[in-house]
Amino acid sequence: MKKFENKFNTNAIREGVKRTQEGEHSEAMFLTSSFVFKSAKEAADRFKNSKDGNVYSRFTNPTVRIFEERLASLEGAQKCIATSTGMSAILSCFMALCAPGDHIVVSKSIFGTSIQLFNKILTKWGLDITFVDLTNESKWKDSITNKTKFFFVETPSNPLTEICDIKKLAELAHSSNIKLIVDNCFCTPALQKPLLHGADIIIHSATKYLDGQGRCLGGAVLGDNEDMENVHSFLRTAGPTLSAFNAWVFTKSLETLSLRMKAHSSNAMLLATWLDQQKKVKKVFYPGLKTHPQFDLAKQQQSASGGVLSFEVNGSIKEAWKLIDSTNLLSITANLGDAKTTITHPASTTHSRLTVKEREDSGVKDNLIRIAVGLEDIDDIIRDLNYLSN
Ligand SMILES: Cc1ncc(COP(=O)(O)O)c(C=O)c1O
Repeated sequence: MKKFENKFNTNAIREGVKRTQEGEHSEAMFLTSSFVFKSAKEAADRFKNSKDGNVYSRFTNPTVRIFEERLASLEGAQKCIATSTGMSAILSCFMALCAPGDHIVVSKSIFGTSIQLFNKILTKWGLDITFVDLTNESKWKDSITNKTKFFFVETPSNPLTEICDIKKLAELAHSSNIKLIVDNCFCTPALQKPLLHGADIIIHSATKYLDGQGRCLGGAVLGDNEDMENVHSFLRTAGPTLSAFNAWVFTKSLETLSLRMKAHSSNAMLLATWLDQQKKVKKVFYPGLKTHPQFDLAKQQQSASGGVLSFEVNGSIKEAWKLIDSTNLLSITANLGDAKTTITHPASTTHSRLTVKEREDSGVKDNLIRIAVGLEDIDDIIRDLNYLSN
């Protein structure tokens, strides 16, 4: 853990800035593939890493570095490595830090493509994966073997917003020399700092709230210097690198992250409360509602409940699709973390490539809808869902 020097918003706005000789106020964007050396000797020294400096944007770019330093300061991490997407952040982390035969324990309640990555790709390279219920601590304990290297969770999870006790899970992991990885995509460091609770590595899909306006794909892995050097070395060789342009967009977005996360959370709270009172709604999943099974834990671990909620409608897929098709303002799209509110049917989109059994295990039913509540006026969002009250 790195100690926090300035407060959150100051870091979000100022960290990582290095002005060029032009004296620009806004961060410079270095759209260049490679960098020029003063001599053959300097080129050789930079390639050998015996001298610091830029070489080639697959693994050194000043604009990407600003984003990495700024995000690291917000999470309180020693180091951040930016990647091309959230999925490549997860892939890079395991490719860099695991070897064939290693065992990873993974929460059942995670993003569908992450389940695919574990089940279809990482197992092919010799990793042994066990899925367990996110909130059942004894299952995590029972699943540990002498080969277990990592625990992997999303908290809150996508799409059911289940929450685990990061501190307890980290203590359990550390008692067996295991590291805890947290995908902090739903909360971002504005609402939750997993490293403060004992987690070892953080994953981000920057595509979501770090961007905040649905423009660019990106990701990040954060942790201690040693692990991140290994992730960087994987990135240098394998190349799932963040582009300088996307890094610049994310850097600027971080400046408003905490304001946006508060606004997303307050809109989501109002919508969840309204949904909870509608006849056509069977059950609402939102950590800010007292009916959420981990309501108290969410209050301790997060500074607000976040912008994503999901709910089951009475009926099945037909009723779920009817509701989606009745909306005009909301965007029917699977992305989340946008200023524009998005509505999606996880079973036929984000979780559609899972088998029926995998979907059941992750709790994604055919009547489930996920809304990533945006920053529009809440009255307009609610009006667009009036099908539920008729
Ligand atoms: C929790 C979570 N992690 C990771 C990802 C993957 O991110 P990306 O789409 O940037 O690859 C997503 C995408 O929805 C997600 O919701």
